[in-house]
Amino acid sequence: MQTSKRPSSEDCTVFLATAIRAAEAAGTVLQEHARSGFRIDYKAAINLVTDADRGAEESIVRTILSTHPSHRILAEERGEDGAADSPYRWIIDPLDGTTNFAHGFPFYSVSIGLECDGECIVGVVLDPVRRELFTAVLGQGAYLNGERLRVSIIQTLEHSLLVTGFAYNIRETTNNNLDHFSRISLRAQGVRRTGSAALDLSYVAAGRFDGYWEVKLSPWDMAAGIVILREAGGVVSGFSRDRFSLYGQELVATNGHIHDQLLRAINQHPDPH
Ligand code: IPD
Ligand code: CA
Ligand code: CA
Repeated sequence: MQTSKRPSSEDCTVFLATAIRAAEAAGTVLQEHARSGFRIDYKAAINLVTDADRGAEESIVRTILSTHPSHRILAEERGEDGAADSPYRWIIDPLDGTTNFAHGFPFYSVSIGLECDGECIVGVVLDPVRRELFTAVLGQGAYLNGERLRVSIIQTLEHSLLVTGFAYNIRETTNNNLDHFSRISLRAQGVRRTGSAALDLSYVAAGRFDGYWEVKLSPWDMAAGIVILREAGGVVSGFSRDRFSLYGQELVATNGHIHDQLLRAINQHPDPH
């Protein structure tokens, strides 16, 4: 891998513009399919993929590589692509919320993050149904349609509206989050399951949720959302405060005030495996 100096803020402005263009193009593809129809294939028993996922991903990768041909790509449906030795890696979920999309439940998003030397520096999440565009650049704040975002000021778990999700292998493993879900449901003001991790993170950034956790995420579920959340003043970790990896699957993401309380609730009864 090439080593690099930190990108300038001018570089980041160009990267952000690319990410927004790519997300808008993908959003158009998704909404065309939502109107005209799409084929559904099964990756596994309850894990769907549609023409819309593939078409949106194609348009994102084309947009990014036409502007930054030397960059690397990690996209959910195609895996690794692009140059092998660049410090820049775009991490893409072309349709986050495929199950919702396939059922006509209008809650899904396009998620595009950019890593430089392993650090997430740009995040863009687009909700093409509500026309909500969440954006952030490391050190430059987080925005929703151009308006600055801040996390909520809620201080306690019992006053918190939380959100979580479940992986597609929910039937095959006991590490399926159901234990955390039932325990935390009795402690919080409410717990939701929306079906789009990227929007869950963006909603914590916007103060609509106070915290989010999940046990088996992929890097493309988190890459964009964690930049947006951190830039809105939020805190991101694994299931212990000092541990977080984009490739580590576990995520706890909060307004900061309730972070330790949520970690304690998650870790109270370790999983039995
Ligand atoms: C899924 C969604 C969901 C989360 C799952 C993800 P997909 O992504 O983000 O909210 O609970 O863990 O796999 O398959 O719709 O891109
Ligand atoms: Ca996803
Ligand atoms: Ca997806």
